[in-house]
Amino acid sequence: MTQTLQKPGKLRLGVNIDHVATVRNARGSAWPDPLRAALLAETAGADGITAHLREDRRHIRDADIEALMAALTVPLNFECAATAEMQAIVLRHKPHAVCLVPEKREERTTEGGLDVASDLARLTDYIAPLREAGCRVSMFISHDPRQIEASAKIGAAVVELHTGLYSDLLADGHAALGERELASLQAGAELAASLGLEVHAGHGLTYDNVEPIAAIPELAELNIGHFLIGEAIFRGLEPAIEEMRRRMDQGRDQQGR
Ligand code: PXP
Repeated sequence: MTQTLQKPGKLRLGVNIDHVATVRNARGSAWPDPLRAALLAETAGADGITAHLREDRRHIRDADIEALMAALTVPLNFECAATAEMQAIVLRHKPHAVCLVPEKREERTTEGGLDVASDLARLTDYIAPLREAGCRVSMFISHDPRQIEASAKIGAAVVELHTGLYSDLLADGHAALGERELASLQAGAELAASLGLEVHAGHGLTYDNVEPIAAIPELAELNIGHFLIGEAIFRGLEPAIEEMRRRMDQGRDQQGR
């Protein structure tokens, strides 16, 4: 029997603007303005904006979320920890999507995935009102099948697979280990899609490592921040995003061949 190869749909790009706020906060001033960056990202073709309101407000602040909700024409993906404070903020704003992430005060960035499997009952209750409010709830997890299955079980609509280890391995020159991690991400994406979850990925993605990730057919969205904001220093935000879009499309096209 011949199988028809289905071309995967367009891969969405969510631009994370947290680190525009990091630079602003470094001087305690009003600039650079994360909202201005978000609006420029929209112009450059971002399909969504991601912002992480951390418990310590080290980058994005409550007023940024209000400004984004008021002005964006693309969906806001609101990242936060699964705390009571954040639940109240989400229910006030009702963003298009909420991505739950683990958060430790002492970490520099979101270091690992959320342990959904060990927190099933609490997370089921936690996300219920968010789902009722119409938010698409996403779990930021590793590709561990236990975590993927647990995310489906609690009623999440989306999983975002953590690509941090993949990007670190490649950056440190461990190509073979990076390939293995890529294969695990592919298997995770397949499992998640088979359970009816929408699959996203992100963390540590750059021009050099994004194409093999974009080629994973089950992926619907990538969320990319730190590299893009850094690259914007050299070529400007819009060209930086446009180049990422081009590389993502190139990766996706390779998959269809
Ligand atoms: N996705 C999630 C859930 C994240 O926490 C982050 C980092 O805030 C990203 C994507 C983007 O990662 P990076 O800034 O390394 O591109």
